[in-house]
Amino acid sequence: MLKIRDLRKSFDAAGDGPAEARLQVLDGVALDLAEGETLALRGESGSGKSTLLHVIGALEPADSGSVQLDGIEVTALNEPQAARFRRTTVGLVFQQFNLIPSLSVADNIAFHARLAGRSPSPEALAGLAERLGIAAQLGKFPEALSGGQQQRAALARTLAARPRLILADEPTGNLDEATGDAVLTVMLELTAEIGAGLLMVTHSSRLAARLDRELVLSKGRIA
Ligand SMILES: Nc1ncnc2c1ncn2[C@@H]1O[C@H](COP(=O)(O)OP(=O)(O)OP(=O)(O)O)[C@@H](O)[C@H]1O
Ligand SMILES: [Mg+2]
Repeated sequence: MLKIRDLRKSFDAAGDGPAEARLQVLDGVALDLAEGETLALRGESGSGKSTLLHVIGALEPADSGSVQLDGIEVTALNEPQAARFRRTTVGLVFQQFNLIPSLSVADNIAFHARLAGRSPSPEALAGLAERLGIAAQLGKFPEALSGGQQQRAALARTLAARPRLILADEPTGNLDEATGDAVLTVMLELTAEIGAGLLMVTHSSRLAARLDRELVLSKGRIA
């Protein structure tokens, strides 16, 4: 379902070095994800995990190489195509939650699902919130939620849109161990129910071990 070949991405190396100096973050990444497979991605801080998710999610351009999702060449999408791909095909759960502050949690979830062309029933939304332990937060605005509750609201929003591939960047990073375990359980159940693939960045070997496979990003490549 996901096929990455020879993916390269560099950034301007700001600072004192020569003007043309580049920081080569992804240096020939190759990766395959089968239909419905769940994969944990680990690696040191700064190894390029978030950058890789951003490129797969069409949030950042690659320098070269190929990223194919269900036969779509992500690196070749123009901006309107990329916007549609981000709304409908991938589900992004990032370190920043990006909830819309002027909408209630319930409206954040419903709005995001509608953007993806889905119209979950109120019962379905309530069931999802219940499973993620945020049922009591549905009528509240994001600012009234704790960090962990916001993280679960962002996860509910992503799952309600039923994407093909979920890209999650430390989705349980703000949660205590027990809540993190419980949220990962729900996330794996729902991912399986909608038949999506999951690429999840985590620093926890304990959480990583619960996914189908585990890879390490090191020196710009999958080790
Ligand atoms: N927009 C940018 N401009 C310049 N450099 C960047 C940019 N984004 C990331 N980098 C650099 O690229 C490298 C990889 O960053 P990235 O955020 O992908 O790491 P990471 O593996 O997700 O780290 P962490 O575990 O701390 O989240 C870092 O050295 C970072 O400073
Ligand atoms: Mg990161």
